[in-house]
Amino acid sequence: MSVNILGIESSCDDTSAAVISDGILKSNVIAGQKVHEAYGGVVPELASRAHQQNIVPVVSEALRRAGIDKYDLSAIAFTRGPGLLGSLLVGTSFAKGMAIGLDIPLIDVNHLHAHVLSHFIRLSEDDEVPQFPFICLLVSGGNSQIVLVKSPYEMEIVGKTIDDAAGEAFDKCAKVMGLPYPGGPHIDRLASKGNPKAFKFSKPHIPGLDYSFSGLKTSFLYTLRDELKEDSDFIEKNKEDLAASLQATIIDILLSKLKKALLQYPVKSLAIGGGVSANSGVRKAIEEFCHNYGLKAWIPERAFTTDNAAMVAAAGYFKYINKEFCDLSLPPFSRVTI
Ligand code: KG4
Repeated sequence: MSVNILGIESSCDDTSAAVISDGILKSNVIAGQKVHEAYGGVVPELASRAHQQNIVPVVSEALRRAGIDKYDLSAIAFTRGPGLLGSLLVGTSFAKGMAIGLDIPLIDVNHLHAHVLSHFIRLSEDDEVPQFPFICLLVSGGNSQIVLVKSPYEMEIVGKTIDDAAGEAFDKCAKVMGLPYPGGPHIDRLASKGNPKAFKFSKPHIPGLDYSFSGLKTSFLYTLRDELKEDSDFIEKNKEDLAASLQATIIDILLSKLKKALLQYPVKSLAIGGGVSANSGVRKAIEEFCHNYGLKAWIPERAFTTDNAAMVAAAGYFKYINKEFCDLSLPPFSRVTI
């Protein structure tokens, strides 16, 4: 009999459901939430309300596209955290209700594990997956971590940001440039036409493998403040160079700690994951870095970089094989942990 896992993701502002059958992805449906655009960031209460509206149609559509009847599901995997508590509660409660109704096991998934395990989403039997151990650079709007991945069940954070995440650096700098939220993709687009050496922004001097992005953000702000005093059109005239220089600095910061991490943990493969791994400059830099260091690079498809339930179902599939099920009393958690 086939193993059919339904994955449910609702940690932030995307409601998503996916089905994986015998390890192969059959469907991945994502409903975004436009309601936050007017506020320049995610409004938690609006996010949980939108999840409540989206969850039933999104799950139904994922089952329909997969061609799987709900009575043929083997288990339901859901994102337990970290994320926005109200949003997580919607996915968690829905998954629990459905598991009780169908009398099938429930599997809790750590959102950050799921991002790492997005490299195990297979669209066909021929798709390759990384060999353990490997290092994964996890860069999103809320996290910037270097993760040593020993197995699907054992991951160690060996470096993390002590303040802002890389995605926040993109988004906050984009905001002061007057770009819409989230600013990361806009910086990416502008950067492709700019000179990455046009401006110099400060880089952190943090010991060990930890990151820091708040100094870069301040240095970016000060540059704009000083230049705007001289020329009120400074941003408009220089937006491409500003974006390219900001992106290049973020990439430099990310790579400098990866170099150190690889000396400490000499693995053969390097993966990236999380929303910022959709960035064209980051993807190119990781490819080059891996080429220069003789590593195999694992760059996820863009659809699997931002929040999606396919990665939750993939993580859930591993846990199903290991018979790691959870109790109906398990609450969601908001704090970052791995
Ligand atoms: O993983 P994600 O969808 O959500 C969480 O934070 O969990 O990541 C969202 C982040 C945002 O900061 C967004 O600006 C950034 O990923 N992002 C990008 C790009 N696409 C998304 N940053 C730079 N370049 C991109 N192309």
